[in-house]
Amino acid sequence: MIPRSIFLFCTGLAFASEQALLQAPHNPPSSRELLSLHRSLVEIQSITGNEHEVGKWLASYLESKNLTVELQQVDSNRFNVLAYPGETSKTQTLVTSHIDTVPPFWPYRYNHTSNIISGRGSVDAKGSVAAQIIAFLNLLKANLSPSAVSLLFVVGEETGGDGMRYFSSHAPHTYDSVIFGEPTEGKLVCGHKGILSFTIKVQGKAAHSGYPYLGVSANDVVIEALDKLMKLREHLPWSTKYGNTTMNIGRVDGGVAANVVAESAEANIAVRLAAGTPKVLKGMIVDALQGVKTRVEELGGRLEIKWEGEGYPPVDIDCDVNGFDKITVNYGTDIPNLHGTHKRYLYGPGSIFVAHSDHEALKAEELENAVRDYEKLILATFKEQS
Ligand SMILES: *[C@@H]1O[C@H](CO)[C@@H](O)[C@H](O)[C@H]1NC(C)=O
Ligand SMILES: *[C@@H]1O[C@H](CO)[C@@H](O)[C@H](O)[C@H]1NC(C)=O
Ligand SMILES: *[C@@H]1O[C@H](CO)[C@@H](O)[C@H](O)[C@H]1NC(C)=O
Ligand SMILES: [Zn+2]
Repeated sequence: MIPRSIFLFCTGLAFASEQALLQAPHNPPSSRELLSLHRSLVEIQSITGNEHEVGKWLASYLESKNLTVELQQVDSNRFNVLAYPGETSKTQTLVTSHIDTVPPFWPYRYNHTSNIISGRGSVDAKGSVAAQIIAFLNLLKANLSPSAVSLLFVVGEETGGDGMRYFSSHAPHTYDSVIFGEPTEGKLVCGHKGILSFTIKVQGKAAHSGYPYLGVSANDVVIEALDKLMKLREHLPWSTKYGNTTMNIGRVDGGVAANVVAESAEANIAVRLAAGTPKVLKGMIVDALQGVKTRVEELGGRLEIKWEGEGYPPVDIDCDVNGFDKITVNYGTDIPNLHGTHKRYLYGPGSIFVAHSDHEALKAEELENAVRDYEKLILATFKEQS
């Protein structure tokens, strides 16, 4: 049997012939494999909660590439896919992205005139998944050590990260570096904003609209509360790195009909933190709503703030690799869900501006560039050690 690799512990180089790899021209078979892998992934609907089929397909694809595949059951019908060459999942570097998508499903399309590929997940994040796998397989062919890199594809990223949180509490060991894949337009991300989500719930008292003084309008109270929050949002913490903290009132719902004083109402709000911590922000929100809360309680109603999870502050990400444009982004990722002291990188093909839209699409060329960039990034995580 031919030894698969030589691992040079003293220098930290994971490759027998790194130079040869870097000089190797990109060959069309790898591109065909990339596009067909990407297509297969996008064609399988995998809206969060329904990742079973894409997970099964991906696991068998990775097995067909002679990788060891572990399925990590997150709940009864959904699993993360962990893959690595050889015997050990205890690798230095982890390369990861997510296999769930937002709704609704849009079918795969390839426009052969423009070379634009569209479809749900084509960008977020199956573009990253496909490019990461092909980059990894290319590096294996160039004698990557079996103990160097593993792949992890998680469920549930789009709705709070249950897949990555599960992995974090069952991870085989700690990693030196983790490369995350999300649409970054082929740039290296130096950090992303934090998040805090919450719901304001108001309980009032129903009455005939001709006699409003007999009731307590939950709608009036929610509108007052939102007015306070819109004033507060002009004064939220900011930073030069991330810009302004923003507050989105994403959903407001209340009452039953025009001729009824609204008995209940609620609003869902997401804050993207550019500075400070969720704790500080919670304090500011509680203070801003205190007056409204006291008044509605005096009238016999109730105002509650329900925090959705802990939230997290802005996430600084390593971007100390040369040869990349560097940016910060405003969206959340699974990065804070994987605990540990590892270095963290965030990179992926396609733009967040089309992800989650009905025109989610990217150019085939962006996928191809991403393969080369993931190869570079993976190599860089080993240079780190030397
Ligand atoms: C498959 O991987 C094993 C190590 O897990 C290796 O010994 C074997 O040579 C590989 N087979 C092929 C066909 O690459
Ligand atoms: C494909 O792209 C070309 C060039 O951008 C465009 O003119 C054409 O309408 C597209 N075809 C389809 C089916 O969308
Ligand atoms: C941040 O907010 C201030 C004040 O509301 C505004 O003038 C400025 O343009 C905002 N900056 C960015 C980057 O949006
Ligand atoms: Zn994503």
